[in-house]
Amino acid sequence: MPLFTWSDDYSVGNTEIDNQHKKLFDIINKLFDISIGKNTSDTVDAVMGDLVSYTNYHFKFEEEHMREIKYININRHMAEHDFFEKEIIFAKRRQVQDKSTTDNKLVEFLSSWLIQHVTEEDRKYGI
Ligand SMILES: [Fe+2]
Repeated sequence: MPLFTWSDDYSVGNTEIDNQHKKLFDIINKLFDISIGKNTSDTVDAVMGDLVSYTNYHFKFEEEHMREIKYININRHMAEHDFFEKEIIFAKRRQVQDKSTTDNKLVEFLSSWLIQHVTEEDRKYGI
């Protein structure tokens, strides 16, 4: 059973952005599977690399969308994105230094931050 299963409750009403969120959750699920020993074909480094680069792509896409629709709270929203991007870059660095496997605290942080962000912040511009 994956850590996170998509449901329509997480939809922001924009198919492209929903698909990007699904992909982010897939990446976090991969980290979770590595942390419980269920995924031995991917490395933490590689998946963390995917997380950093896909998050960067996705946030840029979302910020462009918010600019297009002239979303009034864009600055506050972008500050949340900045916070998350910094956290995952630090986490990736920590893992490179420790050469450790993914710890559950990180996976828990990633998934709870993303669920909260998608269901509270993203829905404000989406619907
Ligand atoms: Fe967002």
